[in-house]
Amino acid sequence: MANRTPLISGYASNNVHKEGPKSVKGAWRFIFQYLKNHKWLFMLAMALVCVESLLTAMAPDYISDMADLIADGLYTGEIDLEAVSYLGVIVFLLYLFGTLAMFLRNYWMADIAQYVARDMRRDLQAKMDRLPLRFYDTCRKGDVMSRFTNDADMVGMALNRSLAVFTHGIVLFFICIALMMLTNVTLAFVSMAAAFFGMGISAIVVRRTQKYYRHQQKNIGRMYGLISEMYSAHDVVLAYSASELNKEKFDEINESLRASGFRSEITMGLLPAIMSFVSNLGYVAVCIIGSVMVIEGQITIGVVVAFILYVKMFMGPLDMIANSLGNIQAAGAGAERINEFLSEEEMEPDISDERISEVKGRVEFEDIHFGYTPEAETIKGFSAVIEPGQKVAIVGSTGAGKTTTVNLLMRFYEIWSGDIRIDGISIRDMSRDNLRSLFCMVLQDAWLFEGTIRDNIAYCSDATDEDVREACEEVGLDMFIDSLPDGLDTRIGSKSTLSEGQKQQICIARALVTRAPMLILDEATSSVDTRTEVVIQRAIDSMMGGRTSFVIAHRLSTIRDADVILVMKDGNIVEKGTHEGLLKNNGVYADLYHSQFEQGE
Ligand SMILES: Nc1ncnc2c1ncn2[C@@H]1O[C@H](COP(=O)(O)OP(=O)(O)OP(=O)(O)O)[C@@H](O)[C@H]1O
Ligand SMILES: [Mg+2]
Repeated sequence: MANRTPLISGYASNNVHKEGPKSVKGAWRFIFQYLKNHKWLFMLAMALVCVESLLTAMAPDYISDMADLIADGLYTGEIDLEAVSYLGVIVFLLYLFGTLAMFLRNYWMADIAQYVARDMRRDLQAKMDRLPLRFYDTCRKGDVMSRFTNDADMVGMALNRSLAVFTHGIVLFFICIALMMLTNVTLAFVSMAAAFFGMGISAIVVRRTQKYYRHQQKNIGRMYGLISEMYSAHDVVLAYSASELNKEKFDEINESLRASGFRSEITMGLLPAIMSFVSNLGYVAVCIIGSVMVIEGQITIGVVVAFILYVKMFMGPLDMIANSLGNIQAAGAGAERINEFLSEEEMEPDISDERISEVKGRVEFEDIHFGYTPEAETIKGFSAVIEPGQKVAIVGSTGAGKTTTVNLLMRFYEIWSGDIRIDGISIRDMSRDNLRSLFCMVLQDAWLFEGTIRDNIAYCSDATDEDVREACEEVGLDMFIDSLPDGLDTRIGSKSTLSEGQKQQICIARALVTRAPMLILDEATSSVDTRTEVVIQRAIDSMMGGRTSFVIAHRLSTIRDADVILVMKDGNIVEKGTHEGLLKNNGVYADLYHSQFEQGE
């Protein structure tokens, strides 16, 4: 599935990815790119936030009037109950509709947040298909995993819980300022002075915490990495008694996770405390100055009541902003990591979509040069021509470059120079999907996934039950499968309960059911016993009859009948010929062969 355009909105190709967010602002700009896909719903939610803020902000004015009416009534001995109830109904309705608006915006924000998190995960997944294998050689699996899970979750959670609250806080904040100014300028300035003092301190705190959040997300990634490594190789860990060493590593990460978590929490935890202190300060100031003004007859008692409510309402948004900032910062750090992954360099896109379906199977390697890193050349001028239908064996010592050669043929890596052609067409002119569909390949390490044996064999092909059964017979797996109570439906884990040889048999069966026109086997039978190997070889030979196949094998007895044997050494072909011819030659191959037989192969 390589080289698909991004699944959502074409955003992944957007150049924001290349710049990468360097700050919370940049990270949030990145998140807003995703919000664009839901802009109508988002705008509606934000509009509701404004309505909600407006409705709640209007209430104190009416409550103030009510207080005045009651205060007047206390003086005159007669309270105008009708007017008070009228105002009461208005206040009730304001709060009712305010709550309704809040409910609806919560509903829609939750919806949008989950969509954004989903879109991010989808872009991450699509990106994985476009990354070159080179990337996977060096990345830490757990770290990539945590971007899919923890980082995307953080963004979703912040959008869901904090963005609306944050906006609500800001809107309310400005409405409050306007209302207070309209009611009484002096008291408005008293309240605002307290608020701005609080905000100044908060700004300093927030600036300091971003790096802790960044550490936090990074440490979570490291933790995933270590755990997935420890888990996937638990037996090795036990065999080498490496638990102690792992424990040290784990403890180190765990400790820095604790430290960064503690620092971010404690500094962000300061905010509500500062805010509550400042709001109390505000009450006191309003009460004292307000009372003086009432005594001097400048304002009524209702204005003081209104201002106490205003201070409460005014500090409310500051509290909201303070409380949501922690989540917003964590989401920023998460978004930063997601964007970082999405900005990784991609494979060159396929030049053409042309598909070849009918292949004869002539494969030419012409002066191939390649290295995994720019400094070290692994394949140094490899050339060979394979005629249609030939069975080609590639042999050579460990590290000679056999696997690398087939990796290049499958275009898992791009060659530096030279060309590989299939039926005269350069593999660079084919789409990767098309090229790979021409081969059934069994890799050097047997890979199974969690599922039934049937699913593992029919993987990515439309093989019927009949095909699966036939493939099992061909690789000599039928007896074993029949002995299982659930047969083909037996479930196997990714770290399965099968023997290494049985795993290889399943992998070969999987390759066989694809019925692709050419075959690559990289040490595919290295773990099965020699008798089973013969069965498998016979099956492969009969199936491959007339098709080009590449077989890499250390056990030279299995490739004696190959049409061509390519002997590799240090990234190049040092000898080429048939088994007999090469033995007569008495060169590298003959040496290898004899050494195996002397060892009793
Ligand atoms: N992903 C990689 N990144 C960097 N270097 C690599 C990578 N894969 C292999 N190499 C190096 O390239 C060289 C050739 O490796 P290759 O896997 O082709 O050997 P091979 O002939 O298949 O050996 P074996 O018989 O052990 O499977 C080795 O020196 C190896 O260290
Ligand atoms: Mg190899």
